[in-house]
Amino acid sequence: MAALCVNLLTVNMFLSAFFLPGDLADCPDESKLFITAPKKMEALSGSCLHIPCNFTAKPGEDKEEFNSTRPTFGVWMKNDSEFVNIKNNAVFNSSERVNKYPMNITGNLSQKNCSTLFSNLTTSHTDTYFFRVNNSPYRRTALCDPLQITVKDSPWSPSIHISAGDLKEKQSVSITCSALTPCPHSPPQLTWNLHPDSDSETEENTDGTFTTKLQQNITLSHTHDGYNISCSATYPVNGGRNKTAETQQTLSVSYAPRDTSASISPSGLLSAGIWVNLTCSSRAKPPISSFTWFKNTKDGPKKVHEGHMYSLEMTNMTDIELHYCVATNALGDQTSSWVHLNVSDSFQHTAAVVAVIVVVALVCLALCVWRFKKCQSQLETLSQTAAQLPLQTPAAGTQDEIHYGDISISSQRPGPSSVSVQDSGQQQDTVYAQVKVSSCPQPADAEELYAQVKK
Ligand SMILES: *[C@@H]1O[C@H](CO)[C@@H](O)[C@H](O)[C@H]1NC(C)=O
Ligand SMILES: *[C@@H]1O[C@H](CO)[C@@H](O)[C@H](O)[C@H]1NC(C)=O
Ligand SMILES: *[C@@H]1O[C@H](CO)[C@@H](O)[C@H](O)[C@H]1NC(C)=O
Ligand SMILES: *[C@@H]1O[C@H](CO)[C@@H](O)[C@H](O)[C@H]1NC(C)=O
Ligand SMILES: *[C@@H]1O[C@H](CO)[C@@H](O)[C@H](O)[C@H]1NC(C)=O
Ligand SMILES: *[C@@H]1O[C@H](CO)[C@@H](O)[C@H](O)[C@H]1NC(C)=O
Ligand SMILES: *[C@@H]1O[C@H](CO)[C@@H](O)[C@H](O)[C@H]1NC(C)=O
Ligand SMILES: *[C@@H]1O[C@H](CO)[C@@H](O)[C@H](O)[C@H]1NC(C)=O
Ligand SMILES: *[C@@H]1O[C@H](CO)[C@@H](O)[C@H](O)[C@H]1NC(C)=O
Ligand SMILES: *[C@@H]1O[C@H](CO)[C@@H](O)[C@H](O)[C@H]1NC(C)=O
Ligand SMILES: *[C@@H]1O[C@H](CO)[C@@H](O)[C@H](O)[C@H]1NC(C)=O
Ligand SMILES: *[C@@H]1O[C@H](CO)[C@@H](O)[C@H](O)[C@H]1NC(C)=O
Repeated sequence: MAALCVNLLTVNMFLSAFFLPGDLADCPDESKLFITAPKKMEALSGSCLHIPCNFTAKPGEDKEEFNSTRPTFGVWMKNDSEFVNIKNNAVFNSSERVNKYPMNITGNLSQKNCSTLFSNLTTSHTDTYFFRVNNSPYRRTALCDPLQITVKDSPWSPSIHISAGDLKEKQSVSITCSALTPCPHSPPQLTWNLHPDSDSETEENTDGTFTTKLQQNITLSHTHDGYNISCSATYPVNGGRNKTAETQQTLSVSYAPRDTSASISPSGLLSAGIWVNLTCSSRAKPPISSFTWFKNTKDGPKKVHEGHMYSLEMTNMTDIELHYCVATNALGDQTSSWVHLNVSDSFQHTAAVVAVIVVVALVCLALCVWRFKKCQSQLETLSQTAAQLPLQTPAAGTQDEIHYGDISISSQRPGPSSVSVQDSGQQQDTVYAQVKVSSCPQPADAEELYAQVKK
C-alpha cells in the first residue's frame, strides 16, 4: 500500500496534490520542497510559538516551478492518521479565513518566508507538523522536514552562564541568565538577585528563535565564593496567570590566602625555657599548599620552619616576637603579622589592677589609722574619767551593748569633767551618738576597748 502511494506521489500530479502516504515521516527522494526550520520546538500552553521558517522549492518532474509572481498560500498539516486526504490533515490554510488551529503565516511567502505564529497553544497541539506550499499549479509538501511541536504546561527553568570556566578573584566575568522565548510577543520577565533592578532583553538567535537575557559584568572577589545566584523567569500566559520557574547556581571562586595570622599557645604569661606552639592560620581556595615560618634576624628574614605549627623553646619574649608566617596557595601568598604575645597586655592589666588594689588598701589604711587615732583619744578621755568611777561589772552578753552601757555609766557620773546626764537627756544622747558615729568599737575591737576601759 505504502509503495503504491509513493508511486502515486511520484507519477501522479493530481494525487500528489490531495493525498499523502500514511507515514508522513517517510521522506521520498522525489520531494521537491524543503523548509529550514527547527526540527523540534517546545512551547508553553496558554502562550504562543513563533516558528522561524523559509523554504526552498525545486522544480518538479513536470517542469512546474515555484513562481513568486503567482499568488502563494501556505498550509500546515499534522500527522495524525494513515493515508488521508490532505484537506482533512490541514490545520491551517492561509487562503482560508477560518482555520482549525490558531495559526498565522507572518512571513512573506513570495519571499519564501514561511515564518508562522502559532497562538493560544494547548497541550493537545503537541504533534508533528508539515508545511505545504500552494503556488498553483506548483504544489508541494515538505515531507522530509517534519516539525515536532511539544506543548508543555510548566515553564522552562532559565539557565545561568558564566563567561569563564575556572573563576578566580580579580577576574572580570560576564554572567548571563537566559530563558527560552518561544513566544517573543509575550516574553518571560527575568529577575535575579545579582542586580535586582536590571531589565531583561529579548534577542533573536541566528536560527530565528528568541532568547530573553539578563546580563551582568562583575569583577570577582573572594566574597563571591559560595554566592548563590538565583534567577527566575516569569512567563505571561492566557488568563493572566503567570508561570514561573527558577534556577540557582553557586559560584566557586578561587582566591589567594586571606586573614593570615600567627598565634601562640599557650598564651598569657610565659617564662623562658617553656615550649610553645606557634600556629599559622589562613583562609584560601584552593586550600593552603604551604605554611612557612620566618624569623627576623640581623641578616634579614630567615626561614625556620615549614608547616602550619612550629614548636619551639621560648628563650625570651623579644625573640618569639621576631617570628611570622607566610601562607601560600596556587593563587598567591600572604604574610602574617609578627607573633604577638599578650603578655605585655595582660601584664599591664594586672599591674593596673594591682595599683588600684594598693590605692584602695592605702586609703582604707589611712582611714583606719585616722579613726583609730580618734577613737584612742576618745577612749583616753573616757578611760581617764572612767578610772575615777567604780567600775560596774559588765553583764555577759553582746559586747557592743555592754560597752555602750559602760560608757553611758561613765557619762552618768556626776562631776565637773563630764556633762551630767541628769542635766540633759539630749547630751547623754550626744555621747552615745559620738561613740556610734566613730564606729570604732567593732565587735573585734570591742574586747580591746573593754580591756582598756577596764584598766
Ligand atoms: C505519523 O503518524 C503515524 C501514525 O500515527 C506514526 O506512525 C508516525 O510515527 C508519525 N510520524 C511522525 C514523524 O510523527
Ligand atoms: C533560510 O534560513 C536559514 C536560517 O535562517 C538561512 O541560513 C538560509 O539562508 C535561508 N534561506 C533562504 C532561501 O532564505
Ligand atoms: C513567473 O510567471 C510570470 C507570469 O506570471 C512569468 O512572466 C515569469 O517568467 C515566470 N518566472 C519564472 C522564473 O518562471
Ligand atoms: C487551501 O485553500 C485553497 C483555497 O481555498 C484550496 O485551493 C487548497 O486546496 C487548500 N489547501 C489545503 C491543503 O487544504
Ligand atoms: C492572523 O492574522 C490576521 C491578520 O493579520 C488576524 O486578523 C488574525 O486574528 C490572526 N489570527 C491569529 C490566530 O492570530
Ligand atoms: C521572515 O518573516 C519574519 C516575520 O514573521 C521576519 O521576522 C524574518 O526576518 C523574515 N525572514 C527573512 C529571511 O526575511
Ligand atoms: C512580499 O514580497 C513581495 C516580493 O518581494 C512584495 O512584492 C510584496 O509586497 C510583499 N508582501 C508583503 C505583504 O510585504
Ligand atoms: C484562546 O483560547 C481561549 C480558550 O481556550 C479563547 O477564549 C481565546 O479567545 C483564544 N484566543 C485566541 C487569540 O485565539
Ligand atoms: C559585559 O561585557 C561584554 C564584553 O566584555 C559587553 O559586550 C557587554 O555589553 C557587557 N555587559 C554589560 C551589562 O555591561
Ligand atoms: C505577571 O508577571 C508580571 C511581570 O512579572 C507582573 O507584572 C504581573 O503582575 C504578574 N501577574 C500576575 C497575575 O501575577
Ligand atoms: C603543641 O602541639 C603539640 C602537638 O599538637 C601538643 O601535643 C602540645 O600540647 C601543644 N603545646 C601547647 C603548649 O599547646
Ligand atoms: C632575647 O632574644 C634576642 C634575639 O634572640 C636577643 O637579641 C636578646 O639579647 C635576648 N634578650 C635577652 C634578655 O635574653
